[in-house]
Order: sequence, then structure tokens, then C-alpha cells
Amino acid sequence: MKNFILILFFIKVFSTDAQQMPPDKKWWKEAVVYQVYPRSFKDSDGDGIGDLKGIISKLDYIKSLGVDAVWLNPIYSSPNDDNGYDVSDYRGIMKDFGTMEDFDVLLKGLHQRGIKLVMDFVLNHSSNEHEWFKQSRLSRTSPYRDYYHWWNAEKGKPPYRYSLFDINHDAWKYDSLTNAYYLHYFSQKQPDLNWENPTLRKELYDIMKFWADKGIDGFRLDAFQFASKDITFPAFPDGYESNFLKYYAMGPYIHDYLQEMNKEVFSKYNVMTVAEGAGNNFDDAHNLVDAKRKELNMAYAFEGVDIPKSKGYSLLHFKEVFSRWDSAFAKNGWLSIFLSNHDQARMVSRFGNDTPEFRDLSSKLLNTFIMTMRGTPYCYYGDELGMTNAGFTKIEDYQDMPTQNEYQHQKDIKGNLDDFLKELQFSCRDNGRTPFQWDSSNQAGFSTGNPWLKVNPNYTTLNANAQEKDLNSCLNYFRKLVKLRKNTSVLVYGKYTILDKANPDVYAYTREEAGKKILVLLNFSTRQSEAKININLKNAKTILTNYKDSIERKTNSGIKLRPYEAVIYQL
Ligand code: GLC
Repeated sequence: MKNFILILFFIKVFSTDAQQMPPDKKWWKEAVVYQVYPRSFKDSDGDGIGDLKGIISKLDYIKSLGVDAVWLNPIYSSPNDDNGYDVSDYRGIMKDFGTMEDFDVLLKGLHQRGIKLVMDFVLNHSSNEHEWFKQSRLSRTSPYRDYYHWWNAEKGKPPYRYSLFDINHDAWKYDSLTNAYYLHYFSQKQPDLNWENPTLRKELYDIMKFWADKGIDGFRLDAFQFASKDITFPAFPDGYESNFLKYYAMGPYIHDYLQEMNKEVFSKYNVMTVAEGAGNNFDDAHNLVDAKRKELNMAYAFEGVDIPKSKGYSLLHFKEVFSRWDSAFAKNGWLSIFLSNHDQARMVSRFGNDTPEFRDLSSKLLNTFIMTMRGTPYCYYGDELGMTNAGFTKIEDYQDMPTQNEYQHQKDIKGNLDDFLKELQFSCRDNGRTPFQWDSSNQAGFSTGNPWLKVNPNYTTLNANAQEKDLNSCLNYFRKLVKLRKNTSVLVYGKYTILDKANPDVYAYTREEAGKKILVLLNFSTRQSEAKININLKNAKTILTNYKDSIERKTNSGIKLRPYEAVIYQL
């Protein structure tokens, strides 16, 4: 009996949180994920490029945010055609970023602070400087030939495939060495890997296990929807462009690959998994994350983040999209909630209002949205401060390879370059990659050297140091939000119900779980607006608001909200 009690004690003390939780409650559902873009976070050696030692020096800052996990963009060896999304050695660390010893220190430092690490795996393509590709292109009989997609030129030109990053948008690149074309959905330096080859798949699983054995806690699968495609490469029918994903992604074996990956890798470790892209429709999305199918925990869809086109978007559209996705996942599966990442311009400049008058309020409002929806919140570095778009006016200021290629393409086809530059100011992803604004010193305290991408000039007033000292800052509000999310089960698991659906200014919803009810009111407009909802706020408790003072809210026609006001009530 004594032994039995002892065994129970050990099981209790040493089993992981994940094992103790009821099956539908998971740590990754309750987690807040903070995304660090390593190149732009903190430079430790003055070469102008953020690095691992830089991140290590800021671990206490990350801890102070209260987040549970860090998602790190790729840090593997890479010639950097696409800032690390072109890997030349999956087991090495990019020279600019440091060494494997630095990585070990980083991982340990995160774990000591109770923070998990999610790594980014770029498995749809490698760099053309990867040893596999170098071997693959040498001869048609190389054992590595089938690691990639080749089309022998004597068959004629391969059927057209669109490349997202190529100057001519052509995904086939001719290589005279073996008189053949290779496929690259992204740039010419990012040849697509041939997932139909089981030897390649095993190599990739071994790489994943190498990192999992080091103790990482999660995998983000980059561009994985593209891994399975019809490799007979038939010509596409007319009009295929209107359904890009159907033809280019989510091919016939995507679920087989994920199930195999799950069996070979994920199931052997306590890790969280998330894929970029959620397929073509809700069925695809469900199939990717349905726990019974043993594929992934989460996928993230683009429909929400893609809403703003050029300047302006309709809140009604925004509400409809997020409500639709929520209801599709109400019973089964799990979502990620995000409004920005390294592939987007800044959240406040796209969804909020980055003028001095409303920047702070609207950043707080957007963070309130992310942290009070159902789904795991992903917060992109700098959004906790309300960092804004860069305001670059010259093409030379942009470093992003696809942007430079597209500029060249527009030049070649005699497009309107002024319009193109104007569009870049709003949407180019470099806007979201400018160095983190630590303080008001030279280069925002990011580097003692010349940053790889210009610092946003508003760093003199918009920076972490200034916001630390201000109790009402965006940063301190973000911390309160994270704490609230972490301590409030209803915000994680509670049912979501939209209210006053037709209101063009206000997004209002409740979250409910086990008799607890929370009301979230968000005024997305620059004017005073009213939420037309019939809820008596007399006994409601204000949990958090982005304004310093409170006002009399109830009017004859609804609940009054000031410009960009966000309020969370406990009902
Ligand atoms: C993903 C990444 C993006 C990268 C592309 C090619 O979309 O998020 O940054 O450029 O894949 O790897």
C-alpha cells in the first residue's frame, strides 16, 4: 500500500501538465505565443543583424510579457536569399545568428523561465546551396536527383507553374548542366523538395527528431500545404488562377505525409504543432487539426489577416470572417488567432490607425481582440508596443527579395512604379520587420552598428524603455491582457457569440463557460459609437479598458464607446 501511494505521488509530481489535463484541455490552447523575428530583435555584436546572443540578453523582457512560448523564425544555416527560409544545412546555425552553443544557451534560458520554444521548419523547399541540391543537379543519375522535381528538357518546356517570388513569375528554372528544369514555387534559390520520395521524407523526419531531441517544444511547418502536388505536372485548365490553392497546394498525399510525420516524430515528443496555411475550405482545415486523425494541433488560415487590401477594410467583413471561422471550429479542432506576422505589414497600420492620435488606443484594441477570441493568440514582436509601418519611400530601403523582384518585374513590364511604391508602403512585409525599438538611443538600442533594415524613425518616442515607465502604455496594457487571458478559462475555452452583428463600427461579443460570462466591446472607428445591445451593465464589472477614465455608458439607444475604445466586462 505504501509503495502504491509512493507511485501515485511520483506520477503526480513528475507527470507533465499535458498529461494531467482533461483530453480537450491542452497547454497549447491555453498558451500565448510570442513570435520573435531573430534578424530584427536584438543585435549583440554590432554587425547590424539581430542574433541569438541578442535574444538571450532580452529573455527577461520576454518573460516579463507573461507569454508561454516563443516562435522563432528560421535560424538554420542559410545564404539568406529569403531571410533564412532557404536552408542550406538543417542541423547548423546561420553564421549571422551565432553558434549551436548559443542555441543551447537560448533554449536553456527559455526553459529556466518556463517558456517553451517553437521552431520554424522549412520543409517544402531547401536552398539551392544545400548539399542535396548541389548533388541533385550534378547528374540525372545522382542518388539525390529525386530529392527535387526535375523535368528533362527533351520533353519540351514543362507546363507553366506560377512562382510566388520569381522575377518572371515562372516556377521552372532551366539548368544547362543536365539539360533539365527544376521546380521552385518560391525563388530560384528555393527549389521544391520532392515529398513523394520516402528517402527524402526520412531525412526530414530525422532532422526534426534532431531538434526535438535537443528539447524544443513545438514545430511550425512553413508553407507545408505545397509539399504535396501532382508531380505529373499536367497543364492547368483556364481560370485556375481563381483557385490557386486547389491547383498548387493540398495535393493528394498531404494528409498521409502529416500522419506519417506525426507517427515518426510528433507522437514521440511532448510538442505542439502548427502549419502555415489551413487549406482551401473548412473541411481541409478540420482534417489538418482533427485530433482523431493524428496530424497537427493547429493550422493558421489567412482569410482574416488578408482582409485589408490597400487602405481600408470593412469591419462588417472582418466580423463575418472571424465569426465564421469560430463557428466552424466551435465543436472540433482549434484555431490560431493573429493579425500580423513576419509576412505582413504592421497590425496597427493595417487594422488599426497609426496616426499619433489613435495609434496607442487602436493597438491596445487590436491586442484586446487577439487575446479575447477563442483560439491560441499569436503576438508578433513589437506589436506589444504598437510598432507601425516603416514609411519607406525608396525601393532601396526595402530588403525583401520578392519585393525587389516584383519591382524589377514591374519595371520590365513598364508598370506604374509610383503606384507600386505606394502600395509597398502599406503592405510590404519589410514594414513588419524593422528592428525592435528598445529605447531612444542611436538605432533604437537595437544595434551599435548599421541595421540591416532601417529603424523606424518614430523610435525616439515609440520604444520599450519609454513604455516601461508609463503604467498606461501599450506595453503594460499588453501585459495585463496576457495575465487576464492566462487566468481566465472562459477566455480560452468559452463559447463565442457575436452581438449587434450589423454595427459597422463596433465589434461586440460574449464568451461564456460554466456560468461565467464576459462581454467584449471594441469600437474600431475614429468616432464615438454605440453598441446596440440589450445587456444591463449595472452589475457588470469592468475588467480592463484601454482608456484611463470611465464614462457613463448607457444611453437610450445602446452602450456608448469612445473612438477605438476597448472594454472587457465580467457580467
Ligand atoms: C512562408 C514564410 C515566408 C517565406 C515563404 C517561403 O510563407 O512565412 O516568410 O518567404 O514561406 O519559405
